[in-house]
Order: sequence, then C-alpha cells, then structure tokens
Amino acid sequence: MKILFVCLGNICRSPLAEGVMKKMCADRNLDWEIDSAGLIGYHKGELPDPRMMTTAERHGYKLTHRSRPIVSEDFTKFDLIIGMSAYINDRILRDTPHSMADRRKVRNIAEYFVNTKDYDEVPDPYCGTMRDFELAVRLIEDACVGILDAVTHQ
Ligand code: 4NP
Repeated sequence: MKILFVCLGNICRSPLAEGVMKKMCADRNLDWEIDSAGLIGYHKGELPDPRMMTTAERHGYKLTHRSRPIVSEDFTKFDLIIGMSAYINDRILRDTPHSMADRRKVRNIAEYFVNTKDYDEVPDPYCGTMRDFELAVRLIEDACVGILDAVTHQ
C-alpha cells in the first residue's frame, strides 16, 4: 500500500500525518510506503513548522519530511491520496491531471475518522495557536487508525 497525504503548505498537517502513519505501520510491521505533499511549493525543501515538530515530538513522532508540492506522477505511484479537507481535495482534482481511476484515489481524511464526530476536516493550524496543533495530532491519530482498519479489511 502506498499512501500520500496532502495539505496546503506541506509543513504542518500532512507531514504530521506521514509521521503518524509511518509509526503506526512500523509498530505493526507493515511495509507500506507513506509520503506527503502540498498544494503549493512555497515551502519546498523546508522541514515542518517548528510548532508542528515540537507538538509531534511530544506525542512520540519525529518528523523529518522536507516539503514538496504534489506532482502528476503522484497519481501513478500512490494507491491513496488523502487530503486534509474538502477544499484541498477540490484543488487536487482541479489542478492535477487525472483519469477517473485517479479520481477515486483522492479521499478526504474525515472519511477515516473513528471517534471524531465534531470535525469534517483537519483544520489548518498554521495561523492558529498551539491548541490547533494539538487538535491536528488528535484528529490525525484518529484518522490513521481508521485508515489502517479500512485498508486491512478491504
Ligand atoms: P499546512 O499549513 O497546509 O498544514 O502545511 C500551512 C502551511 C503554510 C501555509 C498555509 C498552511 N502558507 O500559507 O504558507
């Protein structure tokens, strides 16, 4: 299984999702390929935002990803392309060349929430407070459990 997580800048939410999913896979001896990308290349080459790194580390995740924009080849390589919100997914489908088969690979992370009923996306924490970074960890951990369950029982 190959999964790509996508957000806007690829320095907060999607590198966190990559780190959480990689750790959950390692804990279960699953040899999945996990990566992340952004809609914009503005932060290309950068490590995640220091607030995201600190919050992730507090929860046991070491983030080492370098920001990169999504490219059309990602549709060939990955089985699932999971966006952090409906807005992100609309933009992925609008801006990136894709076939109908490619379209079906693009999923909203909220589809995989297990215990989360009060959100239908992972809100962008970039202009928020540390509370918003904590919320991203809670929502993404919940979704990753749902992704493992959905993929291993499909
Ligand atoms: P992310 O957060 O999409 O979760 O990585 C953002 C990071 C940077 C920007 C916006 C959102 N930005 O506008 O630079």
